[in-house]
Amino acid sequence: MSERTLVLVKPDGVSRGLVGEVISRIERKGLTLAALELRSVERAVAEQHYAEHDGKPFFESLLEFITSGKVAAIVAEGENAIAAFRQLAGGTHPVEKATPGTIRGDFGLEVQYNLVHGSDSPESAEREIKIWFPAL
Ligand code: TYD
Ligand code: MG
Repeated sequence: MSERTLVLVKPDGVSRGLVGEVISRIERKGLTLAALELRSVERAVAEQHYAEHDGKPFFESLLEFITSGKVAAIVAEGENAIAAFRQLAGGTHPVEKATPGTIRGDFGLEVQYNLVHGSDSPESAEREIKIWFPAL
């Protein structure tokens, strides 16, 4: 079944020039782009996006990081898009969980600077796409 997923290239990925790399991997996987925008992130948007992590020890620094520079917000579409992008991204920790060949495994070292976000379920994808692309 065709799905949509919300992908973010986080400020570390943007500043390191990895937006094209991420988009290229999405496209080579066979997913298509339904929306794409480079934008700065207001604190309120970051809080909404990461609401599930409110109260966790890393929440504040996560918000600071995600609002520290521009992000590339992407909606990717296709068969199993949600799981497909999570597979491309790799596990949350770029060294302890992600394996080489994944975006995080190839380019990351630290959990906070793990380059990309991908929705983790159909419910999250719907919620997150509304936050980033309300008109879609
Ligand atoms: P989470 O939703 O658990 O991971 P994922 O991005 O793989 O869905 O966490 C959201 C982000 O929070 C994660 O990408 C990086 C950051 N984070 C930390 O900085 N420290 C942590 O211990 C965890 C679990 C996450
Ligand atoms: Mg998550």
